[in-house]
Amino acid sequence: MPEGRSPILELQGITKSFGGVEALRGVDFALYAGEIHGLVGENGAGKSTLMKIIAGVHPEYSGRFLVDGKETRFRSARDAHAAGIAMVHQELSVAPDLSVAENVFLGNQPTSRLGLVQWRRMAREAGEQLARFGIDVDPMTRLGDLPIGLQQLIEIARVLFSGARIVILDEPTSALSPPEVERLFATLRRLRDEGTGIVFISHFIEDILRVSDTVTVFRNGRKVAETAASATTKGALIEAMIGRGGEALEHSYTDDLMLPRSDGGPVVLKVDQLSLARSLQDVSFEARSGEVLGIYGFMGCGQQELSRILFGKLKPDSGTLVVDGAPKSFASTAAARRAGVALVPESRRAMLFHQEPVYKNISISILDRISAMLLKPAQERDIAKRQVEQLQIRPPVVGLDLGMLSGGNQQKVALAKWLTYPPRLLVLCEPTRGMDVGAKNDVINIVRDLRAKGLAIIVLSTEPETVLSLADRILVLKRGAVVREFKNEPVSKDRLLEAA
Ligand SMILES: Nc1ncnc2c1ncn2[C@@H]1O[C@H](COP(=O)(O)OP(=O)(O)OP(=O)(O)O)[C@@H](O)[C@H]1O
Ligand SMILES: [Mg+2]
Repeated sequence: MPEGRSPILELQGITKSFGGVEALRGVDFALYAGEIHGLVGENGAGKSTLMKIIAGVHPEYSGRFLVDGKETRFRSARDAHAAGIAMVHQELSVAPDLSVAENVFLGNQPTSRLGLVQWRRMAREAGEQLARFGIDVDPMTRLGDLPIGLQQLIEIARVLFSGARIVILDEPTSALSPPEVERLFATLRRLRDEGTGIVFISHFIEDILRVSDTVTVFRNGRKVAETAASATTKGALIEAMIGRGGEALEHSYTDDLMLPRSDGGPVVLKVDQLSLARSLQDVSFEARSGEVLGIYGFMGCGQQELSRILFGKLKPDSGTLVVDGAPKSFASTAAARRAGVALVPESRRAMLFHQEPVYKNISISILDRISAMLLKPAQERDIAKRQVEQLQIRPPVVGLDLGMLSGGNQQKVALAKWLTYPPRLLVLCEPTRGMDVGAKNDVINIVRDLRAKGLAIIVLSTEPETVLSLADRILVLKRGAVVREFKNEPVSKDRLLEAA
């Protein structure tokens, strides 16, 4: 906190409820020009809610809100924009059907005097802005055709270069590879040095410590700590977040870890010589019952395409898939499902229904098996209640619309679906993305339970920690090819990064 300066943004005694749920209780928060302020806290602690108040998304709350020392109340996101505040939301808020250029200029396309959109100028300027951020992409590409990580980078670039003097980033690095995170941090530091006030939310405590000047910790809707980043440690922050010893929960995987002697059960899936133009080259591997196979690689290494092929959403150019000894074509997702394959995709929006209650979201997978007619709403709720309990989903109310849950809790719902009627093969893409350390541990336990039930599990992730915490055996994918297999040997974060 810079001495003797007044904050550009100050919130005092902010309280915010959603129906009966109190999301924030008497929170004070200040942001200074030229400061990177890190925000950490468990899933559902209230981080996004506070930031959405600042960004004008939630106009209803109690407490005082000052910008440049003047009391203010935003009625809409537009008001916040006008005051120079821009936010990258936790859930990607890009328009997939528009071009990259249109997304970069969302809502303020350059127009001629006649009010016509100047396409050429827009494409050129978008291209230049993205290039400054190290993104090389044709500005006229449809955004939805790009990998999630690239979409996320483009959204970040849009906000960072919008000229805002207050920038809020809610979990911006979740889909980024290490070099991209470095590039983002370099840009944040430069903007900070130019006087921008930046709020940075992340569950990667090491990142928070590395890039922030000040760190604030939230717990259960309250601010429980605020400190200079240089004056705290990872362990202390985790302890403040969850109220118990943190070291045991979060490993940094810098030291070698011994992968188990692989004695998985029978082969469930055999992939042979899978190729797809520009994405995959002769990928072969086996997934065994009772084993977690980790597939690690940087963004764009082919993971996404591989998971889509396994779930029948994408057709490979060549190669074969064999499930339980029988060749499968996986011509459709229905065919993949019939073969016993379940997928939790990277973009969970595609399979979650924000306007439907939590229990419906959980029972959807079951309805594929049991006809909807056979399952009574009370049964649906009962099944969902058990999952919500087991996964410690917060708040534990199955009738709430999914959209009302915090990001990390929505994530758990995406996983909960598969617990009652487990598939033969479960493919998990980035299963712990956006989760706090406690929730990550819950997921580790769930995956171990499913493994003990004899499922074959494949975990795909661009985060070394995720793969290291879950996998019994690890493949490294690089530019669409398997370049290394780790099994029954020591492995660490560095070894993975080196191989990728
Ligand atoms: N639109 C909404 N309607 C109802 N409840 C909501 C809404 N948005 C958030 N909440 C509730 O407010 C609380 C705080 O949620 P918030 O999204 O701020 O958490 P968070 O700290 O950002 O968590 P995460 O790390 O999981 O993103 C949670 O209990 C959540 O369920
Ligand atoms: Mg959040």
